[in-house]
Amino acid sequence: MSAGVYKFWNCTLYLFLICHAQIIPTSTATVKGNETDHLALLAFKATIIHDPQGAFSSWNMSLNFCSWAGITCSKQHKRVTSINLASKGFVGSLPSDIGNMSFLTEIVLTNNSLQGTIPQEVDHLFRLKVLSLGRNALEGNIPDTLGQVNRLVILELFSNNLSGMIPNSVFNLSSLNVFNLANNQLQGSIPSDFGLTHHNIQKIQLSDNRLSGNIPVSLSNASKLQVIHLQFNNFSGPISVDFGRLLYLQNLSLEYNNFGLGEQGDLKFIDSLVNCRSLKILKLGANNLQGSLPRSIANLSIKLTMISLADNWISGSIPPDISKFINLIFLSLEHNNFTGIIPPEITQLGKLQRVLLSNNRLTGNIPASIGNLSMLDEVHLENNELNGTIPPSFGNCPMLVLLDLSQNNLSGTIPNEFFHVSPFSIKLNLSQNHLVGSLPAGIGGLDTIVELDISENEFSGFFPTELGRCITLDTLYMQGNFFRGHISHSMRNLRGMQNLDLSRNNLSGEIPDFFELPLKYLNLSWNHLEGEVHTKGVFANASEFSIVGNKELCGGIPELRLPRCSSDSDRSHKHKRSWVQDLFMIGFILVLLIVGYHLLPRGKKTEPPAVSIRPISVLPIRLSYKILHQATDGFSRANLVSEGGFGSVYKGELGPEYNGKAVAIKVFNQEATNSFSTECEAQQHIRHRNIVKIRSTSSSTAKKGKIFRAIVYDFMENGSLDRWQHLTCRTSPDELSMPQILNLKNRINIAIDVASALDYLHNQLDYPLIHCNLSPSNIFLDTEMSAYVSNFGLAKFLIDRRIFNGFAGPSEYAPPGKKTN
Ligand SMILES: *[C@@H]1O[C@H](CO)[C@@H](O)[C@H](O)[C@H]1NC(C)=O
Ligand SMILES: *[C@@H]1O[C@H](CO)[C@@H](O)[C@H](O)[C@H]1NC(C)=O
Ligand SMILES: *[C@@H]1O[C@H](CO)[C@@H](O)[C@H](O)[C@H]1NC(C)=O
Ligand SMILES: *[C@@H]1O[C@H](CO)[C@@H](O)[C@H](O)[C@H]1NC(C)=O
Ligand SMILES: *[C@@H]1O[C@H](CO)[C@@H](O)[C@H](O)[C@H]1NC(C)=O
Ligand SMILES: *[C@@H]1O[C@H](CO)[C@@H](O)[C@H](O)[C@H]1NC(C)=O
Ligand SMILES: *[C@@H]1O[C@H](CO)[C@@H](O)[C@H](O)[C@H]1NC(C)=O
Ligand SMILES: *[C@@H]1O[C@H](CO)[C@@H](O)[C@H](O)[C@H]1NC(C)=O
Ligand SMILES: *[C@@H]1O[C@H](CO)[C@@H](O)[C@H](O)[C@H]1NC(C)=O
Ligand SMILES: *[C@@H]1O[C@H](CO)[C@@H](O)[C@H](O)[C@H]1NC(C)=O
Ligand SMILES: *[C@@H]1O[C@H](CO)[C@@H](O)[C@H](O)[C@H]1NC(C)=O
Ligand SMILES: *[C@@H]1O[C@H](CO)[C@@H](O)[C@H](O)[C@H]1NC(C)=O
Repeated sequence: MSAGVYKFWNCTLYLFLICHAQIIPTSTATVKGNETDHLALLAFKATIIHDPQGAFSSWNMSLNFCSWAGITCSKQHKRVTSINLASKGFVGSLPSDIGNMSFLTEIVLTNNSLQGTIPQEVDHLFRLKVLSLGRNALEGNIPDTLGQVNRLVILELFSNNLSGMIPNSVFNLSSLNVFNLANNQLQGSIPSDFGLTHHNIQKIQLSDNRLSGNIPVSLSNASKLQVIHLQFNNFSGPISVDFGRLLYLQNLSLEYNNFGLGEQGDLKFIDSLVNCRSLKILKLGANNLQGSLPRSIANLSIKLTMISLADNWISGSIPPDISKFINLIFLSLEHNNFTGIIPPEITQLGKLQRVLLSNNRLTGNIPASIGNLSMLDEVHLENNELNGTIPPSFGNCPMLVLLDLSQNNLSGTIPNEFFHVSPFSIKLNLSQNHLVGSLPAGIGGLDTIVELDISENEFSGFFPTELGRCITLDTLYMQGNFFRGHISHSMRNLRGMQNLDLSRNNLSGEIPDFFELPLKYLNLSWNHLEGEVHTKGVFANASEFSIVGNKELCGGIPELRLPRCSSDSDRSHKHKRSWVQDLFMIGFILVLLIVGYHLLPRGKKTEPPAVSIRPISVLPIRLSYKILHQATDGFSRANLVSEGGFGSVYKGELGPEYNGKAVAIKVFNQEATNSFSTECEAQQHIRHRNIVKIRSTSSSTAKKGKIFRAIVYDFMENGSLDRWQHLTCRTSPDELSMPQILNLKNRINIAIDVASALDYLHNQLDYPLIHCNLSPSNIFLDTEMSAYVSNFGLAKFLIDRRIFNGFAGPSEYAPPGKKTN
């Protein structure tokens, strides 16, 4: 046999082996060394059913597998030592064959969509140091065998759907440096000797699981610890760790557990934190801690940016030394039993953005110079015993979005400067105080305000005309004051108004007809209003308004049992139609009948009115991650409504504290934070009955740098329009729940709704707002098949015919039907 023929056969055999291996990747070929790795890699490739970025394009026969993308081999033995294929969009699973690559020291497959379980065979990988499988869709238990991979230094299985107990053997991995199992469904508790056996541990991240038991005292001995994240679990007992030796500790987050015994001295451990000179984040909120803050709190690291002690039973006063924490951004002490004053020194913390001190028993004045804190965006002081006046300096806080001073003993008038507050203000609550005087004209400057509550004070004077300039108002509560005079006609500008309570004032005159518009709740009771009660809009449904206690009213729907208005009354003349008008109406109706029944505009409220006044359920402007987590059953797939480029939309049901309200929750991708801000920004300026309303938002960075941003909307029972467009007949049982197929009437009504929303956006705002992303998937339908435009993530304002969204530069835009030159 010549050398050439030999080579030919050899080559053919090789090809055969390779092809064979590719077709039957789990063939039991008795190959040794690097060929084993080759076959295992092919087996891995075969289990990945989707490779959207073409990460495997270099995994072909013409290239040695050591040169394949993401693969590193040892120089000497040409064995695979590292697989690094994070964020490739892989869909598939992890084959057990991965255990055959016994030279592996590193597997990094973070942020893909790997499903299935972690294979038992990982225990063959005795050289493995890094196993990073975080942010996938792995489920099932963590295999007990993982505990035998005892050279592991980095174990990251966070953000999967792993369940069951964390095997003891895994807690036994004593070389660990990073131990991150956060955001799974894991159970179990941390062994008491964990800190003694893990000399090198730097990060323990077990948050968002179902772990219980104590925080082991032995953590005192793990002197290299930088991060302890145990939040959102069911840990309990005292915090008796001596942090004094944890000199590198940066983040300590224990919130949302049951730590503490509810005793004095629960906070004693803070003394030992004084040694942690790098401490930046201290979160102990939503536990069971009692007692007063130890004086040593003032000796904590000056690097602190976040202190949260909210939702505990902490008493005593807020130490003035808190002024030392010049880097503090977030101070959250609400829902405790703090007494004493708000230390004026707090106004030296120039970086403070959020100050949450509500629901304590704080007394004295609000520090006059609070307006020095120019970064403030949210201030909650409600439900305390604060007295004195409202500092005008609040008007100096340009970023202030939310200010709640309700339920205190504040007195005096509101200074006009106060209403120079930020152009971004969204919610202002001054209710349940003893404020007097009239509302200063400056109130009209609140041109982004959505919710204004000045109820239950002692305000007087004429009904403030300037309110008509607050065109973004959705909710206005003025009840329980001494306002007098007529309800201003300027109120007709408030087209987005939904909830309006003017009850228990001294208002007089007639009920303005513009209240017939889209209000959901109107309370005018206990005033001195007179004349005719209208019957349209909000006045058509007795459960949506109240007018009791006004002695001089007449007319209205029969349920009100008011006397009929005398027909010669001056004020009802505009409702009297001449016979010419009658004739015209009849003619018009005839024409409509001829054109077709389907074309008749919908009678929106055809159902009989509900019996009782609906309680107004206004959600807080921000909801916590935890509440949304609960509402969606842990963002479970079952509640997933849709997925898109920006993120995912879930259906959620809020707890009883929010009347079990059904909401839609849009969770933004990490990349989509621009859309989040654009949408929030856009929605600040728009209020219309055919535009989906933001009920609340949620934004936190608490979870290991991961930014959680979500917007909460009203839930739309009938889903998005694109779902309906594809429905031609009732097929699946799922669709049977739909009331009916889109008929011509529905279609016309939807078109009218959308057109009216667009008309509003384009013609009725100061600057036209262009949606830029209008499509059936962004139009939602409620039970009554009314249409709502949503998803303003790409919206842009049109200023002098130039599109402006703050991110991209201006570009030309020609409104439909108009020409630019
Ligand atoms: C396997 O290793 C041998 C030498 O050890 C080398 O010649 C051969 O190219 C390697 N095969 C692959 C597929 O890397
Ligand atoms: C991995 O090893 C197992 C057992 O040693 C063997 O059955 C399997 O075929 C191997 N997988 C590959 C792809 O070679
Ligand atoms: C194999 O992959 C390499 C690197 O991507 C590429 O240059 C080469 O053309 C590929 N060969 C074949 C036969 O696809
Ligand atoms: C996750 O992977 C996707 C691509 O699949 C990428 O766009 C995204 O930025 C990655 N996310 C993180 C947090 O790395
Ligand atoms: C933990 O490790 C110790 C010694 O390294 C060993 O004796 C013990 O059996 C291990 N426990 C488990 C559950 O693996
Ligand atoms: C563990 O830490 C505690 C408190 O700091 C100390 O008393 C004890 O001696 C340490 N134990 C070991 C084994 O280092
Ligand atoms: C939390 O732990 C307590 C005991 O500390 C237990 O009674 C309770 O059922 C646990 N809750 C959950 C949700 O596991
Ligand atoms: C705080 O530190 C100061 C000096 O740095 C010291 O005098 C004081 O005793 C310390 N207080 C506490 C309670 O540790
Ligand atoms: C709050 O503190 C007061 C004493 O300052 C005490 O009487 C009261 O019981 C405490 N309330 C709670 C809920 O701890
Ligand atoms: C505010 O309350 C404090 C006691 O809590 C009292 O000393 C002070 O006089 C009060 N100030 C006003 C203006 O009512
Ligand atoms: C997580 O796993 C549980 C079962 O352990 C399952 O019911 C649930 O649907 C899974 N969640 C997701 C998001 O896959
Ligand atoms: C501590 O938490 C902050 C914010 O969540 C994060 O940016 C930082 O990286 C964390 N520190 C470490 C050492 O991980």
